[in-house]
Amino acid sequence: MTYIDPAIVNFTDVSKRYTIENLALYKINLEVKKGEFVFLTGPSGSGKSTLLKLLFCAERPTEGEIRVDDMDLSTLSPSQIPALRRKVGVIFQDFKLLEQHSVFDNVALSLEVLGLKKTQVEKRVREIITNVGLIGKIDRKAIQLSGGEQQRVAIARAVVNRPPIILADEPTGNLDRDRTMEVMGLMEELNARGTTIIFATHDEKLFENTHRRVIKLEDGRLVR
Ligand SMILES: Nc1ncnc2c1ncn2[C@@H]1O[C@H](COP(=O)(O)OP(=O)(O)O)[C@@H](O)[C@H]1O
Ligand SMILES: [Mg+2]
Repeated sequence: MTYIDPAIVNFTDVSKRYTIENLALYKINLEVKKGEFVFLTGPSGSGKSTLLKLLFCAERPTEGEIRVDDMDLSTLSPSQIPALRRKVGVIFQDFKLLEQHSVFDNVALSLEVLGLKKTQVEKRVREIITNVGLIGKIDRKAIQLSGGEQQRVAIARAVVNRPPIILADEPTGNLDRDRTMEVMGLMEELNARGTTIIFATHDEKLFENTHRRVIKLEDGRLVR
């Protein structure tokens, strides 16, 4: 008997139109398996961010069907969006931290909304901040950290509730080479522990020697 990895993300004929003139995605068909690490590439404006936004319901498709794990995003009601966001951790190029809040608070917030006990939150947050190498700076305000450190806080925030999927949208776009390699290392570790990763980047150096699947968008169309 052959074992076939189940898909965790599935797009069927998905199109996204923002305006009459602008078709950001056109008939995307895509399947990502559980535990896969996929690079999503293509030039600026090709639709990478739009594709990721559809996956955490920041945008809705104009046409087509999207499934994430057991959820059908085409029929997802607003009240189900929090459940989707618990499955999908997102990391952005510009970090999107609460700059005047501490490292601890930035990471803890996504757990506190889940209603965990204070002692549990504290334990998990300290553990994850240790993993990204920032335990010594746990009480610093985010704004007092370097770009590389801020991105590591954003990664900790995205993974603290252990989502099965991580979406990264040009997460190394504002980082130098060494900081980029640190972020790549953290993503590899997460993937090694079973997290499915979709990593959008236009930086071909990040995947030129990879054995990972690379999918490419051009003008909203998927080309291999
Ligand atoms: N909110 C929006 N309203 C209108 N057009 C948008 C919006 N967001 C993106 N677009 C357009 O959709 C296309 C794809 O953009 P995007 O997904 O951001 O591409 P990428 O991330 O690959 O640079 C571009 O032509 C962009 O201008
Ligand atoms: Mg983008």
